[in-house]
Amino acid sequence: MYDVLIIGSGAAGLSLALSLPSTLRIAVLSKNTIYEGSTLYAQGGIAAVLDQDDSLQAHINDTLVAGAGLCNEATVGFVVNNGPQAIAWLQEQGVPFTRVEGSDDELSEAGLHLTREGGHSHRRIAHSNDATGRAIENSLVEQIRQRSHIEILENHIAIDFITTRKLGLAGNRCVGAYVHKRSTQTTEPIRARFTVLASGGASKVYLYTSNPDGSSGDGIAMAWRAGCRVANMEFMQFHPTCLYHPHAKANLITEAVRGEGGLLKLPDGTRFMPNFDPRAELAPRDIVARAIDHEMKRLGVDCVYLDISYKPKDFILSHFPNVYATCLSFGYDMTKEPLPVVPAAHYTCGGVMTDLKGRTDLDGLYCIGEASYTGLHGANRLASNSLLECIVFARSTSLDILERLDEPFPMPALPAWDESRVTNSDEHVVITHNWDEIRRFMWDYVGIVRTTKRLQRARHRLELLLREIDEYYANFKITSDLIELRNLAVVAWLIIHSALRRHESRGLHYTLDYPNSDPRLQQKPTILDPLSMSYPH
Ligand code: FAD
Ligand code: SIN
Repeated sequence: MYDVLIIGSGAAGLSLALSLPSTLRIAVLSKNTIYEGSTLYAQGGIAAVLDQDDSLQAHINDTLVAGAGLCNEATVGFVVNNGPQAIAWLQEQGVPFTRVEGSDDELSEAGLHLTREGGHSHRRIAHSNDATGRAIENSLVEQIRQRSHIEILENHIAIDFITTRKLGLAGNRCVGAYVHKRSTQTTEPIRARFTVLASGGASKVYLYTSNPDGSSGDGIAMAWRAGCRVANMEFMQFHPTCLYHPHAKANLITEAVRGEGGLLKLPDGTRFMPNFDPRAELAPRDIVARAIDHEMKRLGVDCVYLDISYKPKDFILSHFPNVYATCLSFGYDMTKEPLPVVPAAHYTCGGVMTDLKGRTDLDGLYCIGEASYTGLHGANRLASNSLLECIVFARSTSLDILERLDEPFPMPALPAWDESRVTNSDEHVVITHNWDEIRRFMWDYVGIVRTTKRLQRARHRLELLLREIDEYYANFKITSDLIELRNLAVVAWLIIHSALRRHESRGLHYTLDYPNSDPRLQQKPTILDPLSMSYPH
């Protein structure tokens, strides 16, 4: 038995593990290697107020403006106020933020170089060149490996929570989870006093995404099945600039390229963003992604172009060494030519509802990081606020767990995983086909621009697939592909149902049937409650 079972080894999960005392026995699960997850790929950086000329109020305002009337103001204040402390904590863990170069107005008080991204009124992004996520993940893993009280369980995929209610006992408390070990293809219950979901987002539900393969929304689907409310799933963020290339799978071109002067252009070389927003290339992401989508559809072209080639070569190489190398490997030299770019699914603004301590509706279950809905992002996340949210909520959750350590904990025997009625699958094609089908119709019908008819089409197809997947799940032995497909389908269902409920356009949710925002829906998140909905559970 563990004191704390943490499902996920990204910025959120690792920060939590490192914030808990060494007297606790902690397990950190990753369904792949410990490194793999969105955190590893984060480029631009982490937002916080670090410069005397900037202010907490300005960061709060920028977050609220990007969130388009749907942020929870208490959460925004909480996260922004804790921003400087979060950066200091990461530095203590050894994260090598970039310090070199820059004029005075580009440096923080502590000498960190600050970059700028869309929607920010000030330079406030601390970064480690253009590979901030890798620097954070590497530093946190290094720290974790030095702690003998933290056990790392790689290639272990959580399937579902075990609750006292499911065991037929009084109350409803999470007492652990069933976990599938990929190497042996076996499934075991893991018991824990506290379980924390830190399992990342669900952007893999779309055909084109900046996210790694594991972003299948497992934690959101698990929490939903366990009876937790889920909010704002219609607000899936599309990053405006991913490299367009037939062989480039999801390569993000960081927003910092636009922050440092990159211009968006049509194939004939004309700029178009000033026609859409006075902030032009530095408008919030929803506006830039929608403008690109509009221009691509209007002209019938496959991509637009991001051009920073007019800047000195040394400037580009020193600011974007990794982006430069990646683009070059696909044949594009960003110091000499514009880069072809398209939007792709990037971030899940909604998720499992929590309070400021990371508590969910299920006693003993917490949720932090991209899987959670804390109210920070509203209808559109401000760039680089996500890593910040991971660190701030890891800390508040650790403090809450500490306070609850003396509470009595139910110690029921956990039943073994029952495989008595299933056989080996003879139809793996069902999994691959359904996986592809969901991701394609989500892209076509539930993407950047929606209509009610398209959403209804998607819902109809999905409900057929859900029945097929449920039947398959009931009859065949579990595999990691099947676990992910089952979760992906639930998450798609949550996104479609949330989108159908919102009769307006706001932030990332844009529908041609309700093209304007409805002032009555300001501050009204879309909350789906599994206890009052019939399917899927
Ligand atoms: P992740 O880092 O995604 O980790 C999820 C973990 O959960 C993994 O360890 C995974 O194996 C595990 N897991 C999932 N399901 C299961 C399961 N069923 N069982 C066991 N383990 C499971 N944000 C910023 O603030 N700044 C940026 O510059 C930035 N750049 C980005 C660039 C890219 C290309 C991408 C994809 C995202 C970027 N983001 C950025 C967003 C940010 O990186 C993520 O929101 C954040 O890293 C999420 O961290 P996390 O800890 O919640 O989840
Ligand atoms: C980027 O570097 O453009 C990504 C930043 C983010 O997603 O917050």
